[in-house]
Amino acid sequence: MIGIETLDEFIIRKQDELPYTKGELSRLLRDIGLAAKVVNREVNKAGLVDILGTTGAINVQGEEVKKLDVYANTRFIAALKLGGQCSGIASEETKDIIVFDDEISKNAKYIVAIDPLDGSSNIDVNVSVGTIFSIYRQVSSMGPPTLQDFLQKGSEQVAAGYIVYGSSTMLVYTTGHGVNGFTLDPSIGEFCLSHPDMQTPKSGKIYSINQGYFVSFPEPVKQYIRYCKQEDKATNRPYSLRYIGSMVADIHRNLISGGIFIYPPTKEAPRGKLRLLYECNPISFIVEQAGGRASDGYKRILDIEPKELHQRTPIFIGSEEMVLKAEEFISDYPSA
Ligand code: AHG
Ligand code: MN
Ligand code: MN
Repeated sequence: MIGIETLDEFIIRKQDELPYTKGELSRLLRDIGLAAKVVNREVNKAGLVDILGTTGAINVQGEEVKKLDVYANTRFIAALKLGGQCSGIASEETKDIIVFDDEISKNAKYIVAIDPLDGSSNIDVNVSVGTIFSIYRQVSSMGPPTLQDFLQKGSEQVAAGYIVYGSSTMLVYTTGHGVNGFTLDPSIGEFCLSHPDMQTPKSGKIYSINQGYFVSFPEPVKQYIRYCKQEDKATNRPYSLRYIGSMVADIHRNLISGGIFIYPPTKEAPRGKLRLLYECNPISFIVEQAGGRASDGYKRILDIEPKELHQRTPIFIGSEEMVLKAEEFISDYPSA
């Protein structure tokens, strides 16, 4: 196809930018691309096949597990196991790490943290959902990966990305050399480069937060929301509130149009709801690589030392100037 570059061709062309790798990371990224196409097929058929609704199970998060959660989890684990480049996985859907200790994975150098299906509450109502992945080098030298391998800071990621199964299906990823977006062309079954070198605007007019929890937000967050709603032409306010309930879809829109996404501490979730390892770290790596900013209100997300697999963190992420402004409200607030 003249002028069209597929994900596989792009990964191979960019391979030389990657330090210490002889194609293993490229192969791992292509394995993820393949699994994404398989999950996309089920997401697109959802409603026609028995893949909607819940399984009746409750996962480690205490949330009800949807059939598509399980399907996506199974597909990504299978693709990563078969690909032979991944030695272990931390998944939102499994309590402990999954370790591949077999012949095909014995030389694997990488571990993956994954949210196989992000935005599960939107599956049955045909609103965009996604997958989020984060890739690290296995640091423990001998044998299979340990829990410690998965508790590396986000700044140690070698790659991160997301797939958004929306009006079109896109795969967006970074290896620390900028962010590139690929749109799935169903007619050839390939992800094709459609958004080269994505840069997020330094400011924007969109704020994304579940205002339903307003009463239980910390006071500085309430003050920032009031700031977003104030009339001030000079600073493009009032902003528009856009909140889909699928982090990947909200982040993808804000990455392109500019905006801030906030999931602060609430009474329900005093450490915020979103998980550090397979939601906040990978998304923060991408947003920073696109020129944006990501913190927990006080500290850079990628500098947080993880203590446990499914730990949660508050997150303020998006256009740099908007996140800095929100942080200002927090730092100016007289701590109790
Ligand atoms: P998941 O479906 O993987 O559990 O993630 C859902 C997350 C995230 O996608 C979204 O931004 C957030 O939950 C929405 O939470 P609220 O419904 O509490 O706003
Ligand atoms: Mn999620
Ligand atoms: Mn999920």
